[in-house]
Amino acid sequence: MQRVEKEIARLVKECDYDEVTRLFEMLSGGKRLRAKLILKIADTHEMAPLLAAIVELIHAASLLHDDVIDEASLRRGVPSVNATDGSKTAVMLGDILYSKAFTELVLFDKDIARIIASSVTALSKGEMMDVKMADEFNFDEKLYLDMLYLKTATLIEAAAEASALLVGKDAASHALYGRNLGLSFQIIDDILDITADASTLGKPAMNDYVEGKCTLPYIYLYEFLNEDDKKRLVSLHAKELSDEDTTWIKDKMQEYKTIEKSFILASELSNEAMKAMSDDKELVAILQTMIQRSY
Ligand code: FPP
Ligand code: MG
Repeated sequence: MQRVEKEIARLVKECDYDEVTRLFEMLSGGKRLRAKLILKIADTHEMAPLLAAIVELIHAASLLHDDVIDEASLRRGVPSVNATDGSKTAVMLGDILYSKAFTELVLFDKDIARIIASSVTALSKGEMMDVKMADEFNFDEKLYLDMLYLKTATLIEAAAEASALLVGKDAASHALYGRNLGLSFQIIDDILDITADASTLGKPAMNDYVEGKCTLPYIYLYEFLNEDDKKRLVSLHAKELSDEDTTWIKDKMQEYKTIEKSFILASELSNEAMKAMSDDKELVAILQTMIQRSY
């Protein structure tokens, strides 16, 4: 991973603007899940650290823009750039990082460049869907999963597929692995928003629903509730929640086991990914660690 950090630092420095370097250094690096995946799959290739750095810059850019869109004040436990330096700076920093990533992408084969580049179109579409869907309470599970796939799974899918292509491994099975890893990762993230506390999350707890995001535990809950309770749940959508409302939602989720139900779907998706990679112990281990985050 040190090679990836070195490549990231080099690319940021090559942007040749002290303000960019300063702001980038203030970002917390995060888990670097995508980079780790690329190194695991394509470790033997000398360009793997560069591919990993490109994907991490794209990911960082998408989070900078997302924090502007969500008006978030915290990212990974530290104040977000839009909070410290304003939205204009956060948007431009994102633009610089992802255009730099795209400049470097031309050094790769066309197939690899196309996979990464088109995943950014997909994730932007996913973000747009996410914004639109927050306008109203959404109880359509399929629509939610389609949005989740675009918004979070496509870049992980692209990272796995592109790194497999780089070293001549099977692209389809790695893409399936990345897609399901991304989906189950996000479903677990959605669960943690409800079950974990703010200090663990590095952002306010139960924030998804306040932001208008109807994640799976809410979609499943709606199915089970009687008409009056359905109305109450919908009336709380996209609003600040009182302690009483929070307790009511959590109690109902417990009564109808909607967290467990969401977790079962995440487990099924990750089991499918494990099957696709059954002879690669390290890739299976990544999935197992990820699933265990929820305990
Ligand atoms: C986080 O979602 C957001 C994403 C994973 C994708 C955001 C994508 C864009 C803004 C498209 C623009 C892309 C580029 C490269 C500039 P979330 O708000 O559900 O998660 P959070 O709790 O981590 O904020
Ligand atoms: Mg966000």
